[in-house]
Amino acid sequence: MPRIAYVNGRYVAHSDAFVHIEDRGYQFADGVYEVCEVARGFIVDSVGHLNRLERSLSELRIDWPVNRKALVHIMREVIGRNRVRNGMVYLQVTRGVAPRDHVFPANGTRPALVVTAKRTDPAAAAKRASRGIKVITVPENRWDRVDIKSVGLLPNVLARQQAKEAGAQEAWFVDSDGKVTEGAATNAWIVTKDGRLVTRPAESGILRGITRTTLFAVADKLGLKIEERGFTVDEAKTAREAFITAATTLIMPIVEIDGQPVANGHPGSVALSLRDAFFDIAEKIQA
Ligand code: PDD
Repeated sequence: MPRIAYVNGRYVAHSDAFVHIEDRGYQFADGVYEVCEVARGFIVDSVGHLNRLERSLSELRIDWPVNRKALVHIMREVIGRNRVRNGMVYLQVTRGVAPRDHVFPANGTRPALVVTAKRTDPAAAAKRASRGIKVITVPENRWDRVDIKSVGLLPNVLARQQAKEAGAQEAWFVDSDGKVTEGAATNAWIVTKDGRLVTRPAESGILRGITRTTLFAVADKLGLKIEERGFTVDEAKTAREAFITAATTLIMPIVEIDGQPVANGHPGSVALSLRDAFFDIAEKIQA
C-alpha cells in the first residue's frame, strides 16, 4: 500500500510529496512541528500537542495554516489513509513560500502545512524498553528558545549522530552548571534512591514535553512523588534509575550513561511501571 502525505491542501503519494525550494522551512528552518503517538487506533495527547503547537506558532508569529478542527481532521485522514494503528503522526507548519529574505514575507503569505504518518512496531518498542537504552552526554550548545518546537534542530541532529557513533541511542545535553537539560529529542529523568522522580523544571532550558506533562498524572496515580529540579550527570550515574520520555519513545529506561551502568545495568522497575500505566492515563481520541 503506498504511503500518503498531506501537503498544502492535497493528499499525495509520499514519493510525490514536495515543498517549494523557497519554503521558509527549507531555507531558514522558519517553522515548527509536532509528533503525536498513535497507539491502538488512538491519537495520544492530541490536546496537549495542539496546545503546544499553538504556543510555538504564536511565539514565532506564524498563523495557523488551517483551524484546529480542520487540522485534527487532516491528521485523522492521514492516519487512516496510511492504515496506521500504532505509530506516529508528524505535522509541520512553516511561514510559507516567499522570495528569500530574512524579514517576514508580505502579509497574506500562507503558512505551509505538511502532515505525514508512519507505522511503528509496538512489539519492537517493548523489546527495546525491556533491554533499556544507552545515552552519552554532550555540552549544551542550543539557543535559549528550546521551549519552541522549532524545526531548527541542527545541534540535536549532531548530538544524536554522536550518540549513534558511540553505540548509544540518545545524547543528553549538559548545561554550563553541569546539569542535564534534556535529550536530543526526549526529556530526561532520574529516580532517586528513595523513589522520587526528578526532572528539570520546564521554565527554561528544555522543551515542555507532552509525555513529560502526562507523566505527572501517571506518577500521581502510582503514588510517586516528582521533584522538578536540575540534576548532574554524576547524580544520574549513581541514581536508582534513569529514563527518557517522548511521544516517540514513551518512557524508555536508560541502562548506561557515558559507558557507565546505571544501578545494576538493567531497566528499572519504576520506569517500566510508568510505561505500563501510561496509555490508560493519557488523553486519547479515536484516530
Ligand atoms: N521530540 N525534548 C526535545 C528536544 C524533543 O524534541 C522532544 C520530542 C521532547 C519530548 O516531547 P514530547 O513528550 O512532547 O514528545 C523533549 C519529538 C518526538 C521528535 O523530535 O521526534
